[in-house]
Amino acid sequence: MPTDKNRTVYLKDYQPTDFIIETVDLVFDLGETMTTVGSEIRMRRRPGADPSAPLVFDGDGLALSGLALDGKPLLPERYDSDADTLTVRDLPEDGAFTLTVKTRINPTANSQLLGLYRTNGIYSTQCEAEGFRRITYFYDRPDVLAVYTVTIIADEKTCPLLLSNGNMVEEQTLDDGRHMARWHDPFPKPSYLFALVAGDLAMIEDRFTTMSGRDVTLRVYVEHGKAERAGYAMDALKRAMKWDEERFGREYDLDIFMIVAVSDFNMGAMENKGLNIFNDRLILADPETATDDDYARIEAVVAHEYFHNWTGNRITCRDWFQLSLKEGLTVYREHEFSADQRSRPVVRVDEVKFLRAHQFPEDGGPLAHPVRPTEYVEIDNFYTTTVYEKGSEVSRMIATLLGPDGFRQGLDLFFERHDGGAVTIEDYLKCFEEATGHDLTHFALWYHQAGTPVISVASAYDEDKRELTLTLGQTTTPTPGEKVKKPLHIPLRVGLIGPNGDNMEPSAITGGEHRKDVLELTEDEQTFVFEGIGARPAISVNRDFSAPVKIRFDQSREDRLRIAGAETDLVARWDTINALALETLVKAAGDVKAGRSVTIDGELGDVLIATAEDDALEPAFRALALTLPSELDIGRAIVDNVDPDAIHTARSAVFAAIAQAGGDSFARLTTAMENPRTFSPDAESAGRRALTNAALALAVAGEGDPARANRAYGHADNMTDMLAAMRILAHQFAGSAEAEDALSDFRRRFAGEPLVLDKWFSTLATVPGAQTLERVAALMGDDAFDETNPNRVRALIGAFASSNPTGFNRDDGAGYNFFADFILTSDKRNATLTARLMTAMRSFEALEPTRQALARRQIERIAAHDDLSRNLRDIVDRMLKS
Ligand code: ARG
Ligand code: ZN
Repeated sequence: MPTDKNRTVYLKDYQPTDFIIETVDLVFDLGETMTTVGSEIRMRRRPGADPSAPLVFDGDGLALSGLALDGKPLLPERYDSDADTLTVRDLPEDGAFTLTVKTRINPTANSQLLGLYRTNGIYSTQCEAEGFRRITYFYDRPDVLAVYTVTIIADEKTCPLLLSNGNMVEEQTLDDGRHMARWHDPFPKPSYLFALVAGDLAMIEDRFTTMSGRDVTLRVYVEHGKAERAGYAMDALKRAMKWDEERFGREYDLDIFMIVAVSDFNMGAMENKGLNIFNDRLILADPETATDDDYARIEAVVAHEYFHNWTGNRITCRDWFQLSLKEGLTVYREHEFSADQRSRPVVRVDEVKFLRAHQFPEDGGPLAHPVRPTEYVEIDNFYTTTVYEKGSEVSRMIATLLGPDGFRQGLDLFFERHDGGAVTIEDYLKCFEEATGHDLTHFALWYHQAGTPVISVASAYDEDKRELTLTLGQTTTPTPGEKVKKPLHIPLRVGLIGPNGDNMEPSAITGGEHRKDVLELTEDEQTFVFEGIGARPAISVNRDFSAPVKIRFDQSREDRLRIAGAETDLVARWDTINALALETLVKAAGDVKAGRSVTIDGELGDVLIATAEDDALEPAFRALALTLPSELDIGRAIVDNVDPDAIHTARSAVFAAIAQAGGDSFARLTTAMENPRTFSPDAESAGRRALTNAALALAVAGEGDPARANRAYGHADNMTDMLAAMRILAHQFAGSAEAEDALSDFRRRFAGEPLVLDKWFSTLATVPGAQTLERVAALMGDDAFDETNPNRVRALIGAFASSNPTGFNRDDGAGYNFFADFILTSDKRNATLTARLMTAMRSFEALEPTRQALARRQIERIAAHDDLSRNLRDIVDRMLKS
C-alpha cells in the first residue's frame, strides 16, 4: 500500500497533465506469480505546458523492470522510480515520443483485489478508481483518455479465454502451449476503464440489433456449470439496451458487449468499456438459488453498468471529485429503468427506504460530505451513498424542476456537447440551463452542501376565504467542516386530500414559484397560499419523495389516517403508514426504557390490516405496508441515547400485538396469493410472494408457534420462500428445534452453492440477542468461512456489524472488540473491503453513553495502530474527529 498515507487531494489543485497520451499498447505475459506487463505509450507534450517539466507517472507498489524512450533504453540519470512514482526528465520540448515501460507483478499475491489479481484460476482486473497504477506506471487519472491495444499471452489450457476491451483483432497459437489474443478499443478511455480477463469460463451468447440496425454480439461469461443461471442477466441486458434507446436515444457503440462474473470482487460491478466485470452474486440467478430481491438487484445493476457506457465512458469525469457526474446520473437512469420495468411506486418506496437507511445516516454523521466533495484522502472511500444515491436524487430533482422534456433536452445537449470528454458537474448543469433557459445557480448548492435538510410544515385553513396557507421552513444541521448552512432550492410536491379522499385542485397557488403541484422552496421560510379550497384538506407533502429531505409536520392523527387510507400517490401513502408505525414503535421503546408496559393503539393495527387486505392495491405495496420499520429504523428515529435492547423489546411487543389483532387476516393472507406453478421472477409474482411472507411472519407471531413457518419451509419450491421461512424460524424462534433443523437442512442442501451459503451466514449473523456473538465467532472457524472472499466476509462480519443491533451492540462491548480484531487483520489483506466494513460503526455517537464509550474505545484502539491502510486510516480518523 502507498507510503504517503496522509496526502490530501484538493479539488482546487486540479491541473491538466503536462503530456498527452495518444495510444497505449499493452502486452501482458500472464503467469500466476509473475506476470510481465509491457506498456508502449505514444505521447507528446501538451501545447502550452512548461517545456522543461518532467513526466511524472503514478504507481502503487510497483517495481520498474525496463524503461526506454523511442526504443532506446534510458540512462539512469534521466529517470527516478520508486513503488509509487516514475519520473522521466529531459523529454523533447515538443513533438511526439514513445515511452516503453516494463513492470512485473504477482496476480496471485494480490489480496487487495485491486489491479490485476488471480483467484480461483481466473485472472481479472479492477482498476477504478486507482487500480491501474498497480499494473503499470501511468497517468492513472480520469482526464487522460487514450486508445488502447492489448495483447494477452497465456497458457492455452488453463486460460483458453483471453479478454480485454473493444474488439478482438488477432488470435494466435504460440510455442510451449501458449497462445495470444489482441484486442483493440477504438474509443479513447481513461485507465480506470481498462479491463482484462483470462481463464476458463462458460459462456452464453445472444444478439441485439441497435436502433440504427447494427448487430451486436452479447456474451455473459460465468463459471463452468453455471451457464443456465446467466439467462436472466442476459435478458436484463437486452431490456436495458432497448430502454436506453427509447428513453434517452442512447445506442451501443462496439460490435460486442461482454459481461464476466467473478466470485471474488470488492464491489458490485464495474463498467469497463465493452467488458463489464461483475460480482457473480449480481449475475447468477435461478429460482432455487436466488431470491426475488436478487433478481431485482441483478436487473438493476446489469442496467446500471450498461448505462455507464454513455454516462461514464463516452463522457467521463475530469477528476474524481466529479464522481457523482457519472454515478449519480447513472443511478438515476437505473432507477428510472427499474420503475419502467416494475411497479413505479414500489420501486420508489424501496429507494426511499434505502436512502433513509444509508444515506441520511451518512449525511448526519462523521463521514458526511457533499455530493461533490472538495477534498479526499482516499478516493476509494467516496464511493458512497451520498455520491451515488443522493447524487441520483439531485438529478431527479432537476427532472422535476424542468419537467421530463426539459430534462431530456438538457441531457441530449450534454451527450452532444461532451461526447469524448472528461467533464465537471458545472458542465453538466450548464447543459440543462442552456437547453431550457432555467437558472440552476441556486439549485447547484445541492452538490456542494452536505447534510439532509429538514422541512418544517405549518398550515392554516380559512373557510370563508376558501384558502389554505402553508408555511414551509428549511434548516440543515452543521456537518463536519461546514458550520453554516444556506437554504437550498427544493422541489416539494404537495397534494391536498379532501374529506372524501378526493384530490383537491387549487384554483391558484401564490407566494412563490411552483410548477403545477411542485412548490419551489428557495428561502429559509416561505408561505404558499392555495386558493379555491372548499373544505379543510389533509396535506400530503413530499409526494413521490420529490426531495431527499426530512419533514417535520405536526399533523393531526385524523389527517394522517385519511392519507394512509386514501392517498393516490402511493409513495406518500406508504410514507404515512410507515410514519404511524414508527411513531408507535418509538413511543414503545420509550416505555420500555422507562420501565412502563408497552401500550399500542388499535388504530395502527387497523390501518395495517386494512391495507394488507385491500385487493385494490398491488400485493407488493401491501407487503411494504405490512413490514414494520426495523430496529435500525427505530434507532435512527430516536436519534440519540439509543438503547438497542429496549428497541428490540419494544418492537417485539408491538409486532406481537399487531399479530394478535390481525391473526385471522394474516393467516388467511399466507395462502391467499395464487402463484402459478412455474416460477416467474417478474415483479407481480414477486409482490405476491412478498405479501405471503410478510403475512407469514405476523401469523406465526400471533400463534406463538413455529409450525406454520416450519411447514412453509418444507413446502418452499424457490429461494425467496425458503429463505423467508428460514429467517422467520431463526429470528423469531431462535434456539428452537425447528429453527436449528431448518438451518442445518439449508446448510446441507446448499453446501456447494457459495451464494446461497452467504444467505445462511447472514441469517445466523443477524439473529437478535447477545448470544449471537459467540455463534459468529464460531462461524469464523467454519469450513465454509473464507476471509479472502469479500461476499463471505460481508455475509458474516458485515451483516453482524451493520444489521444486528442487539448482537453487535452487546452492552459489555464484546461485539465491538471482536469486530475491531477482525478489522485489524482484514486491513492487511484487503483495505477497500475493510474500510467499507468499518463504516458500520459510523453512527456510534447515537448510542447511549455506556455503549458509546465502549465503541469509541475500540475505534481508538484501531486508530492507535500506525500501520493502517490509507483507506482505514481515513475512515477511523474522520469518525473520531467529529
Ligand atoms: N463504477 C462502479 C459502479 O458501477 C463501481 C466502482 C467501485 N470502485 C471503487 N473503488 N469503490 O458503480
Ligand atoms: Zn456506477
